[in-house]
Amino acid sequence: MATKLAALIVLVAFLAEPPACEGDIICFNGWLRLPIQDPRLCPPGSRMRSGIPRQLVPRPSGLGLGFGYYNNRSSRSSYCPRAEGIVRATVSKAVAAEPGIGAGLIRLFFHDCFVRGCDASVLLTETNSNNSDTEREGQPNKNSLRGLEVIDAAKAAIEAACPGRVSCADIVAFAARDASSILSNRRINIRMQGGRFDGRESFANETDQLPGPFSGATVLQSNFRAKGLTSDEMVTLSGAHTIGRARCAFFSSRFSEMDPAFAAKLRARCDDDTNVNQDHVTPDVLDRRYYQDIIDRKVLFTSDAVLNSTETIKQVKENANKAGMWERKFERAMENMGKIGIKTRRGKDAEIRKVCWRVNN
Ligand code: HEM
Repeated sequence: MATKLAALIVLVAFLAEPPACEGDIICFNGWLRLPIQDPRLCPPGSRMRSGIPRQLVPRPSGLGLGFGYYNNRSSRSSYCPRAEGIVRATVSKAVAAEPGIGAGLIRLFFHDCFVRGCDASVLLTETNSNNSDTEREGQPNKNSLRGLEVIDAAKAAIEAACPGRVSCADIVAFAARDASSILSNRRINIRMQGGRFDGRESFANETDQLPGPFSGATVLQSNFRAKGLTSDEMVTLSGAHTIGRARCAFFSSRFSEMDPAFAAKLRARCDDDTNVNQDHVTPDVLDRRYYQDIIDRKVLFTSDAVLNSTETIKQVKENANKAGMWERKFERAMENMGKIGIKTRRGKDAEIRKVCWRVNN
């Protein structure tokens, strides 16, 4: 027992240094759920860690971004009128072949914007400081991100059309917009601005700013507040869990809290596979079904189920019942997410990468 405990402490220290906790057994901002309770694993001082703002965080203004940013003839360094069309065509082809890639692209945008802002840091494997332990290696991303090859393909086609003008950060944002439109059967049309520059650094440990599946309501709200987004936007954006897949390890501890018939089906699927669809009825359609599923206890994660709490249940019910309401809110919230921490000028920390997975020399 003592050896096992020591091994667990080392594992936690390694994965989440210093540990971020919620409660006694949930670490790395809700990504690690440890099977035993021991205060030494998550010292009390680490409860309010990264992602939790100490003071009010201003709303992201999006200053410097613009609609049709690459269509402006008078700005030679950014003129590339084919850019958005190339992204749309590349995403359409990929999603037609495998709809799950569309889910991956929407999630990629969230994971990019929440860590170092929307600067494509999530794509890097080679950075300015030669750090190889990048965001892609972080607990929320490792063996989980999808759609990276779509971004690379769009970037290669855009570079061939107009080299050095279109950032990977904008390609990620446009791809999320286009995937949302396709998977919602054109019911969701996000007005996505352009003008983001790419960052030059990326660190795995900073991915603890992304809330995890074991996070409770307060942590979720705080994590979104830390990026200048509201609790309503948190509820709205969580609606993306109506598409894509999830690993059983993230929810198999809470079968007993789910609708019994739903839990039984999930349990059976998890016996055969490590992944399941998040939405059991229309897994590839971006719709408001998630909110009825919350009410019916047919959602996977703790972080989904806790939206049934007093503070957020009003929004959940509205989104479930009022046609078109969630779709319009989702459009606005995605647009706002695309303004987080942006770099809008070339500089020592900002460039237009030639290839999305490595910084320019
Ligand atoms: C509110 C806090 C959130 C938590 C705790 C959370 C957590 C997770 C987890 C654990 C998975 C499964 C990953 C895996 O098993 O590999 C997942 C999948 C997914 N998430 Fe979230 N997420 C959150 C918010 C969001 C937001 C804001 C978006 C986008 C707007 C989003 C979009 C998705 C999508 C589309 C998938 C499926 C990805 C795929 O199939 O490749 N999530 N999320």
